[in-house]
Amino acid sequence: MSPERQLKEQIETPMVWLRYACAIDVMQAKLRLINADLTERKNRQVIRNMSARIKSPDSIVKKLIRKGREATFRAAADTLNDIAGIRVVCYFSDDIYQVAEMIRKQKDIRVLKEKDYIKHPKKSGYQSLHLIVGVPVAYLEETEEIRVEIQIRSFAMDYWAELDTQMCYKKDAGKMENVGLEIKTYSDLIAGVDGQMLELRRKIDNM
Ligand code: GTP
Ligand code: MG
Repeated sequence: MSPERQLKEQIETPMVWLRYACAIDVMQAKLRLINADLTERKNRQVIRNMSARIKSPDSIVKKLIRKGREATFRAAADTLNDIAGIRVVCYFSDDIYQVAEMIRKQKDIRVLKEKDYIKHPKKSGYQSLHLIVGVPVAYLEETEEIRVEIQIRSFAMDYWAELDTQMCYKKDAGKMENVGLEIKTYSDLIAGVDGQMLELRRKIDNM
């Protein structure tokens, strides 16, 4: 059997797949608690919506090959941080850091890595805060730490990223210089409006 076929079979084994699903469920339950807590304190909804996915075996194989790694289940489990992924969309950009702070405060969750693409946007214009967290999944006497990638972004940043994914990200058009420059320009424009909406909310908060 080819290593790719073997990887697919291993990842699709219920006891493997369900561990990733369980880590996502645990983290999403926590994020719902965080949202309820912040919503109560601020008197407005903080998280607009949340979605989650487990990376498909095909994408796992593609990513391992892209990174020059062996296409084996072991390599995937050891080196990929985004087999389990959660996307959190907040209304305003300042909410992002509050949600992240609440995640850091959870005693049973380990923050393993952070990438702030808001303070340092990617060349494409992509903006989001990424946390790689370790979520404990306990079964019988064993507890395994499963890594989950949490992408936190504002509604406006999400709008840009969704359209970028449709048109450019990992697509040929995205590699054309003029297209790249144009999509980056729109990211700057959207970030500008996002910042102004935040200023307006703050003004209203202080009235
Ligand atoms: P990937 O192979 O893309 O997962 O990259 P990575 O593992 O090196 O991590 P990185 O932090 O660069 O990106 C992780 C994830 O962020 C991606 O899978 C996308 O969901 C998202 N992302 C990163 N860059 C872009 C971008 O330019 N446009 C869009 N739409 N999404 C992006
Ligand atoms: Mg990814």
